[in-house]
Amino acid sequence: MSRIPQETVDQIIQQADIVEVVGDFVTLKKKGQNMWAPCPFHHEKSPSFSVSPAKGIYKCFGCGKAGNSLQFIMDIEGIGYVDALKYLARKYAIAIEEEVTPELTQAQSEKESQYILSNFAKDYFHDILLNHEQGKSIGLPYFKDRGLAMPTIQRFELGYSLEAWDGLTAKALAQGFQLEFLESTGLTIRKEDKKYDRFRARVMFPIHNLSGRVVGFGGRTLKSNDKTPKYVNSPESEIYHKSDVLYGMYQAKQAIRSQDLCYLVEGYLDVLSLSQGGIENVVASSGTSLTEGQIKLIGRYTKNITVLYDGDAAGIKASLRGIDLILEGGLNVNVVLFPDKEDPDSYIRKVGDTAFKKYIDTNAKDFISFKTELLSQEAEHNPVKKAEAIREIISSISKIPDSIKRAVFLQRCSVIFGIEEQVLLTEYNKLMKQERPKPASPTIPTTEPELTPQPEDEVAADDAILLHHEREVLRLLVNYSAHQLPEGEPFLPYLLAQLEDIDFKIPIHARLITLFQEVVKQSSLVSPDYFINYPDGEIRQEAISLLTDKFELSENWETHQIFVPRETDMLQFAADTAVLRLKWRNVQQMIKENAELLKTEKDFPEIMKIMTLIKTLQQYEVEIGAQLGVVVVR
Ligand code: GTP
Ligand code: MN
Repeated sequence: MSRIPQETVDQIIQQADIVEVVGDFVTLKKKGQNMWAPCPFHHEKSPSFSVSPAKGIYKCFGCGKAGNSLQFIMDIEGIGYVDALKYLARKYAIAIEEEVTPELTQAQSEKESQYILSNFAKDYFHDILLNHEQGKSIGLPYFKDRGLAMPTIQRFELGYSLEAWDGLTAKALAQGFQLEFLESTGLTIRKEDKKYDRFRARVMFPIHNLSGRVVGFGGRTLKSNDKTPKYVNSPESEIYHKSDVLYGMYQAKQAIRSQDLCYLVEGYLDVLSLSQGGIENVVASSGTSLTEGQIKLIGRYTKNITVLYDGDAAGIKASLRGIDLILEGGLNVNVVLFPDKEDPDSYIRKVGDTAFKKYIDTNAKDFISFKTELLSQEAEHNPVKKAEAIREIISSISKIPDSIKRAVFLQRCSVIFGIEEQVLLTEYNKLMKQERPKPASPTIPTTEPELTPQPEDEVAADDAILLHHEREVLRLLVNYSAHQLPEGEPFLPYLLAQLEDIDFKIPIHARLITLFQEVVKQSSLVSPDYFINYPDGEIRQEAISLLTDKFELSENWETHQIFVPRETDMLQFAADTAVLRLKWRNVQQMIKENAELLKTEKDFPEIMKIMTLIKTLQQYEVEIGAQLGVVVVR
């Protein structure tokens, strides 16, 4: 990967105004010191998403998402750190000069060349469609015939490829593009000493990535003989990874988010017809079976998918497996079947936009019910088939990560099949045992669960206390890293010095402490921005979460005018207390562990040693307790 120089990163982050950046996606309303909107990350009607212009961060009190401008772009666009920086750089017209290592220059420029060439090809095909004799007399009439209007043709940048051996290849070479990239993008095919265009005499569908750059093409023949395949597609390349791309995603993503729903169809023309009909939240799997990557891609924008597949049962049966994958991804799936011989494209053209929308609204079935009905019909008078069908459906249900949803579906399945739920549960648990290990889908107890507390519960409670105390110390470090104590002593080294003999047990906490120790060597006053903008995503998330911990509380202070002494006025006290609490907790934990050891230890000198240690620890416990003003009962 190439690196963006630190000064540029700083400049981008400094200029990226949180209100402007977020404002591109939601409408913010000012209330008090902050701005509010319905959260773009989860479905809600009343706004619980807030932006603090002063702090340069956002936080949703509903779903808990929080971060700075950069994090917002990463989350909302579903892109990585570098791409988010580039997005902001583009928005604020900041030039990025990437530092590129030699071996990376190669890969980077290979990709970039493929992008530039694909874009050239897209423009070329589009120009032919609109301006060339063949495009005007063959390609354009075809699209018109299929009901596509100019705005749709423009929006999806459709094109036409000439009936010629090397229309594009010759043109691109003449423009100075290298044959190497024509081949690696698959636009040109080379056989022995001959080279020719992959796409000839076809209407062209450019395939865009999330940021709208063309990565590949699909081309449909206009001939209806079976000598030539109906569709030809670009092969995989550096820029085109088929399993991570969905046709139409670039044009659909905003609508998918705002509708909180994604329609999934099979063909290019289904996407185009629906989108033109006002159903813009639609993408196509382009005939291939759905992949995990594609499902994840949709999952960034919504958790709800409605599959619109052709009417025939054979086609649907073939796609059942892909739909199971959606369930495994934790998404909700509905299915709409069309009348026989119709696909979404033909059906919307037949009945019109309004009737089409009504049809999919009234005919959408949740996938499990759909599958249950489909299979139970087939198995009607055949007990062997019926048993098979039940196992098949239960296997689908077991893929749902959410246990409540699983239970609901099992119940529904029992109604449709007319089988007692208990029987299904037994079958379900049998299946789960076979498929182990699979921690995601634990068995559902068929009897009442035991109510006696398990030892794990105790451990979990211990962990929660530890987490809380470690976190409080880190919260002070992150929030007040640029502060000084009343006598002018910098806060950061003051608190860090007290932590030297403490091991932080939670890995991310330990990482942050190490980071603080390194940073403080350079400077004793550090802006919290340093951590908010830290390149490592895990550190950044944690720092932002620590910074926003008391954000909610401060809202109340403002609105209710409650007087609370400010933490900055008693920083030293807050720090000392947090450290003592953490030490106290650690000592208690050590006492517990040693007491545990004592139970099994057989060697007498060893027992004596442990008992002495416990005594010492208990003394510590009392001392620390005294400082904290706590009475220790023993
Ligand atoms: P029309 O038949 O013109 O309505 O196109 P369509 O997009 O509806 O195609 P269809 O329903 O037949 O197929 C759905 C999708 O499967 C297409 O959009 C293509 O992505 C893919 N597909 C269909 N036929 C072929 C083929 O011959 N080769 C390849 N590679 N893909 C195909
Ligand atoms: Mn079709």
